[in-house]
Amino acid sequence: MKHSHILPLAFCIFFLTLVILVQARHHSHHTKHKHSHSHKSCKTPKPAPPPSPPHNENYNNASGILDVRKFGAIGDGETDDTGSFKMAWDSACQSESAVNVILVPQGFSFLIQSTIFTGPCQGVLVLKVDGTLMPPDGPESWPKNNSRHQWLVFYRINGMSLEGSGLIDGRGEKWWDLPCKPHKAIRFFMSSNLTVQGLRIKNSPQFHFRFDGCKNVHIESIYITAPKLSPNTDGIHIENTNDMKIYNSVISNGDDCVSIGSGCNDVDIKNITCGPGHGISIGSLGNHNSRACVSNIMVRDSFIKVTDNGVRIKTWQGGSGSVSGVTFSNIHMVSVRNPIIIDQFYCLTKECTNKTSAVSVSNIIYTNIKGTYDIRSPPMRFACSDSVPCTNLTLSDIELLPSQGDIVHDPFCWNAYGDLETLTIPPVSCLLEGTPQSVLDYDITRC
Ligand SMILES: *[C@@H]1O[C@H](CO)[C@@H](O)[C@H](O)[C@H]1NC(C)=O
Ligand SMILES: *[C@@H]1O[C@H](CO)[C@@H](O)[C@H](O)[C@H]1NC(C)=O
Ligand SMILES: *[C@@H]1O[C@H](CO)[C@@H](O)[C@H](O)[C@H]1NC(C)=O
Ligand SMILES: *[C@@H]1O[C@H](CO)[C@@H](O)[C@H](O)[C@H]1NC(C)=O
Ligand SMILES: *[C@@H]1O[C@H](CO)[C@@H](O)[C@H](O)[C@H]1NC(C)=O
Ligand SMILES: *[C@@H]1O[C@H](CO)[C@@H](O)[C@H](O)[C@H]1NC(C)=O
Repeated sequence: MKHSHILPLAFCIFFLTLVILVQARHHSHHTKHKHSHSHKSCKTPKPAPPPSPPHNENYNNASGILDVRKFGAIGDGETDDTGSFKMAWDSACQSESAVNVILVPQGFSFLIQSTIFTGPCQGVLVLKVDGTLMPPDGPESWPKNNSRHQWLVFYRINGMSLEGSGLIDGRGEKWWDLPCKPHKAIRFFMSSNLTVQGLRIKNSPQFHFRFDGCKNVHIESIYITAPKLSPNTDGIHIENTNDMKIYNSVISNGDDCVSIGSGCNDVDIKNITCGPGHGISIGSLGNHNSRACVSNIMVRDSFIKVTDNGVRIKTWQGGSGSVSGVTFSNIHMVSVRNPIIIDQFYCLTKECTNKTSAVSVSNIIYTNIKGTYDIRSPPMRFACSDSVPCTNLTLSDIELLPSQGDIVHDPFCWNAYGDLETLTIPPVSCLLEGTPQSVLDYDITRC
C-alpha cells in the first residue's frame, strides 16, 4: 500500500521542481513582456487590424508539402516520433518558400514528447493535422527529463496556421487525479498572426489551449471536449493577448470554455456552444495583489448550456487595474447555475480577506440574454467590492426563467451601479443609480 503512494509522490516532487524552474524562467520572460506591453495594451482599444492568417487555397500547390513520414515518423501510436517532427519543423521553418506545410497524414497516430517549436520562421507555416497527435500516455510513460508543465509549445512564431481534420488527443485521464497540476496541451507563446482551424482536441491534462503574449489570433471551427468532471481543463485560456477572435466552435469540458486573463484587449467571441463546464469567464484577475487590465471584450451569439456559470467576471480582493468595455450579447442559456455573474470576492481558499483595492469593473453591457437557470443560485449576481464598486452596468432584454421549480431567488447586487434599459425577467431592483464618489476619486487611468 505504502509503495503505491510513494511513487506518485516522488513524481510530484520531481515534477513540481521542474514546474518551478520552468515557471521561474517563463516568469522572467513574462514580466519583461508585460512591462514592455502593459501600457500600450491597456490604453483605449483601437479597432483590430485586418487579420492576415494564411489561407487554405494558397498552399495547395505550394512548392513542397512536408509529410512528417518523409522525416521518418512512423505514426503507429507507439513509436516516439518527436525527432521527425522536429526535423520537419526545422526544415519548414528555414525554407525560403512563402508558405510551408507540414502534413500530419490521416490514418496515423503520432506520439510526440513535450516539445518547443520555435520561430521565427522564414515564411508562413502550416501545421496540417489530418491524423492524430498525442503525448505519451500519462505520467508513468512521460520521460523523466521532459517538462511536465507543457506539451506542445509554439514560441515566437509570426504567421502560422494549425489546422486540419484530425485529432489532438491530450490523454489527460491519468493526470486528472494527481494532486499536482499537470500540463497544458497546446501553448502559443509570444507569437502573432495565428490561425487555429477545424481541429478536434480532447482530454487535455489541463488547459487545452493557452495563448500568452500573442497578437492577432483567429480560432475557427474547433471542437474541444473533456469530461464534465475533469479538473482545470479550460478550453481556451488567453493572457496578455490582443486581437483575438474565437468563432464557430464547440467546447464542453470541466472548467471554463474560454477564460480571459490579464492583459487581454480586443477579444471577439462569437457563435460558441459551451457546456457542460464553467462557462465563459473574464478572470480571475488581481490575484496576489496584481494589476490586471482587460478591455474591449465581446461575447455574442452563443449558446451556454448546463454550466456552473454563464458569463462571468471574477476578480480577487486586493488587485488593481480594470475590466472595462465588455459586451455580452445575444446569448442563450439552458440550465445555467449563475447565468450572469460578477464576483469581486473570488477566492479559492477560505482565507481571503477583504482589501481596500480591487480590479475595477465598469462599462459592462448585458443585452439579449435569454433562457433558463438552475434555481440553486440567483440568475443574476453582481457582487462588487466594498471599496471599488462596479459602475455603468447596462442590462437590456434579459429573460431568465427557472429551468425547474419556482423563481426563488432575487437578483443579488452589492455595490453595483448601473441601468436597466428595458424591464428584465426576473426584475432587478438592486442596482444603484449614478456614479459613486469613490469611483470618481479612484484612479481608473491606471490601465
Ligand atoms: C497556385 O495556383 C494558382 C492557379 O494555378 C495560382 O494563381 C497561385 O498563385 C498558385 N499558388 C502558389 C502558392 O503557387
Ligand atoms: C532525455 O533523456 C534521453 C535519454 O537519456 C535523451 O535522449 C533526451 O535527449 C533527453 N531529453 C531532454 C529534453 O533532455
Ligand atoms: C502580422 O501580419 C501583418 C500583415 O501581414 C504584418 O504587418 C505584421 O507585422 C505581422 N505581425 C508581426 C508581429 O509581425
Ligand atoms: C455556428 O457554429 C457552428 C459550429 O459550432 C456551425 O455549424 C454554424 O454554422 C455556425 N453558425 C453560423 C451562423 O455561422
Ligand atoms: C467582505 O465584504 C463582503 C461585502 O461587504 C462581505 O459580505 C464579506 O463577508 C466580507 N468578507 C470578509 C472575509 O470579511
Ligand atoms: C457606459 O458604458 C458604455 C458601454 O461600454 C459606454 O459606451 C459609455 O460611454 C459608458 N458611460 C459612461 C458614463 O462611462
